[in-house]
Amino acid sequence: MARVLFFLSISLAVTFGSCRQLRISLHGVENPLGLELFNRFLSINSSTSSNDTDKIRLPLRNRNNVEYFGIVSMGTPKQMFKVMLDTGSSNTWLPSSNCARSNWACQNHRRYDSSRSSSHVKDGRNFTLFYGAGSVIGYLSKDTLHFGGKELPNLIFGEAMFQYQEVFDSVIFDGIVGLGLGERAWANSTPFLELLCAQHLVEECVFSVYLRRVPGSLRGGEIIIGGIDKSRFSGSIHYVPLTEYGYWKFEITKVSVGLEKIDVSVSAILDTGTSNILIPEQSYDILHKALKATTDYGMSFVTCELDSLPNIKLLIAGRTFPITPMDYVKEVLLEDNIKVCITRFSPINLNFWILGDVFLGRYYTVYDATEKRVGLARAVPDVAMGG
Ligand SMILES: *[C@@H]1O[C@H](CO)[C@@H](O)[C@H](O)[C@H]1NC(C)=O
Ligand SMILES: *[C@@H]1O[C@H](CO)[C@@H](O)[C@H](O)[C@H]1NC(C)=O
Ligand SMILES: *[C@@H]1O[C@H](CO)[C@@H](O)[C@H](O)[C@H]1NC(C)=O
Repeated sequence: MARVLFFLSISLAVTFGSCRQLRISLHGVENPLGLELFNRFLSINSSTSSNDTDKIRLPLRNRNNVEYFGIVSMGTPKQMFKVMLDTGSSNTWLPSSNCARSNWACQNHRRYDSSRSSSHVKDGRNFTLFYGAGSVIGYLSKDTLHFGGKELPNLIFGEAMFQYQEVFDSVIFDGIVGLGLGERAWANSTPFLELLCAQHLVEECVFSVYLRRVPGSLRGGEIIIGGIDKSRFSGSIHYVPLTEYGYWKFEITKVSVGLEKIDVSVSAILDTGTSNILIPEQSYDILHKALKATTDYGMSFVTCELDSLPNIKLLIAGRTFPITPMDYVKEVLLEDNIKVCITRFSPINLNFWILGDVFLGRYYTVYDATEKRVGLARAVPDVAMGG
């Protein structure tokens, strides 16, 4: 997950143009729809028309295209949680019922109570997780995770005693289920995907992600564990080998805008836990120069005439995957109804690209642990179906 800047309705006070004081809500609507989202989720019936019994479907909720989450339960009897299903990390944690009173981020979310679960097993180790957005500290436990009608016994997960307030208080999800691979998981623990494959809950050790990006719609697509859904993409799936067995990491041969090279032979990860596309600083600057952007207050402003902006082309193992202005430009209404446009890219001090929800909305992605590869295909836009 999440080097900074994902989800969060960050309000920035900035001056723009002729010294006007303006407030920009980076992620649009300030009201996090919390209660309504949750209630509507409960009334959803996650049974599907699908007939392939070996696949597990996890419907996702979408908050303003910046936060995607699903519902799982932990323990016996089940305790229910909203979780971010994060391809950018490998560990799972939930807020603990033992967390400090003073930690609002914990108090304002659902908390796992081990004393109420007959399947809970104590682990005894402490943990600290560092996300780009802030850290989570607590101790490990083991219990049964329930999701999509299946159960996964013996999952080692973190009970969070402390969560970095500014970030985790502002999100709807309670905890995180890491969908990454073993090399980035806690020592002597098997992460979610590898555990469910080891327990043969699915035939194929693979999952796929379909993210729906329809403004104002709560339906966020779904994660399918154990296979793919052919109705969600067009054309063929293009597979690329993994270059690491922790992140879902692979190589981009070249990034270009028109004839201009932005980056070559650079690694990238697929990250459902990041809402933007994060780019190494130097390439970020070259890219925004090519887009004729002006950078101010940590944001890059471009023209709102989308037709005049170029596609950004990612060449990956011989196939080109464009990102269009529709994907990468966000319109922001300032006071006085002035419209400005900023890019959905953010610079990071790392040497690889983080392809977050902006990218995953355009491309259906497949995560194949058996063949150690990821697959990419054009997602079928699903705008007609409403929310
Ligand atoms: C799911 O929806 C169907 C039809 O809408 C309904 O008959 C059924 O009771 C629902 N199941 C649950 C578990 O809510
Ligand atoms: C499920 O799929 C199989 C083959 O794909 C088909 O023969 C069968 O009729 C389907 N069952 C239902 C209930 O749709
Ligand atoms: C775990 O953390 C708690 C609270 O900080 C501390 O009291 C305990 O000694 C730690 N346990 C281990 C095994 O490090």
